[in-house]
Amino acid sequence: MNLILLGPPGAGKGTQAKRLVERFGLAHVSTGDILRAAIKSGSELGQKAKGYMDRGELVPDDLVVGIIRERIGQPDCAKGFVLDGFPRTVPQAEALDGMLSAASCRLDRVVALEVSDQAVLERNTKRRSCPTCGATYHLVNAPPKKAGVCDRDATPLVHRPDDQPEAILKRMEEYRQKTAPLKDFYRKVGLLREIDGSGAQDDVARALDRQLEG
Ligand code: AP5
Repeated sequence: MNLILLGPPGAGKGTQAKRLVERFGLAHVSTGDILRAAIKSGSELGQKAKGYMDRGELVPDDLVVGIIRERIGQPDCAKGFVLDGFPRTVPQAEALDGMLSAASCRLDRVVALEVSDQAVLERNTKRRSCPTCGATYHLVNAPPKKAGVCDRDATPLVHRPDDQPEAILKRMEEYRQKTAPLKDFYRKVGLLREIDGSGAQDDVARALDRQLEG
């Protein structure tokens, strides 16, 4: 099974992708996580991406397409993958089509998580992330057991630079202008399913499972 999760910033793509990985053994391919790891390592890719990400802008297509080309060719993706945060523009979606055709591979579903602007603001503002393992928490809905530190590795949690109000608003604008048109792109080829992402995590997971089984 090869899937795409679409949705505005903070819709819960990463949260649901991690559940799908546990449930179906899929490879989790998050361009946001790959770019944040590149920034942390100080690589050339990270240096190029950092300014865009901190401002809440999309990183240029050629950089991100290069990441995905390399990542989905890795052995763990052969058993199926969930793309979280890619594609985000029509040119990225077209590039993905080309990569999958060349590998005689296909997409099975594209699931869009629908949440209100108010929920997007609330979830991003209250998110805290572990810079070591990538775990995410929400100060109210999914808090860590001990305030301020990761449950898994006790690393102090951080507030992502792009989770500051100005960058959140920019990410929402980027989503509306460049990413939301992908819904039409995938609707036309019959792959799109839209679900309500505003409920509790378990309710969203059940709605997602129904779309994957149907
Ligand atoms: P990326 O990391 O992909 O950020 P995003 O799309 O803005 O998505 P998020 O990771 O913020 O949110 P999410 O939907 O995964 O939500 P989460 O599960 O964490 O990208 C960051 C940046 O990298 C971009 O701005 C861009 O610069 C660059 N980039 C990445 N990919 C790119 C690409 N393809 N092209 C160009 N540039 C690219 O949940 C959010 C919060 O809500 C958490 O606190 C969570 O606990 C909570 N939560 C989750 N589900 C629920 C629920 N059902 N109810 C209540 N709370 C919930």
